[in-house]
Amino acid sequence: MSILLLAGSPSLSSRSTRLLHHVGERLATLGHRYSKLHVLDLPAQALLQADFNNADIKLAQQQVRDAEAVVISTPVYKAAYSGVLKAFLDLLPQDGLAGKLVLPLATGGSQSHMLALDYALRPVLSALGAKHVLPSIYATEAQIVWDAEKGLAIESGIAQRVTEGVEHLSANLHTLRRASVSSSTEFTPVPFAQVRCSV
Ligand SMILES: Cc1cc2nc3c(=O)[nH]c(=O)nc-3n(C[C@H](O)[C@H](O)[C@H](O)COP(=O)(O)O)c2cc1C
Repeated sequence: MSILLLAGSPSLSSRSTRLLHHVGERLATLGHRYSKLHVLDLPAQALLQADFNNADIKLAQQQVRDAEAVVISTPVYKAAYSGVLKAFLDLLPQDGLAGKLVLPLATGGSQSHMLALDYALRPVLSALGAKHVLPSIYATEAQIVWDAEKGLAIESGIAQRVTEGVEHLSANLHTLRRASVSSSTEFTPVPFAQVRCSV
């Protein structure tokens, strides 16, 4: 059981995906394991034709199923999230995110659509049964700068949101695990009629 990093950008040099990987590295420093899934690596025809039986799509669905938590990143496109991310989410079962924690991330050209995750993506995540959708992290292009030599530069306000998001996800994951352990080890009352005395 681990965390899935789901990248929703169709771009090969994606800012939102770099932010996602940064969040993954931060979670790893807190001892969490993660795996990655990029929608742009999935077969385009299967996504467009909503081919639930495609082998690669089935593998991706399994990755989602196996995750306790999903960190989803997307660019803002036309005041919403990317169409290719929606094409993949459409291929998840109705309760595909049931019981899972979700941390949404997005990058956009300006602050104008900073609520796109809350009014466009969050309802879809809830419809897929997400147990707890954590506060979203939104950054503009100016706040997340990639340099091949220096790496990713994150503006301090966003860096603080990332720290809060990572700690929030980590704490909730520990709570979720404790709850699942205690419910699995909880005493199940045995009806008196079934009590057998071994004398
Ligand atoms: C097709 C397209 C539509 C876009 N629409 C918006 C938009 O509505 N609002 C916005 O703030 N930025 C918009 N942008 C800018 C992207 O959200 C921004 O460049 C983002 O950082 C790209 O993320 P990526 O590098 O992870 O793909 C758009 C970019 C493209 C290519």
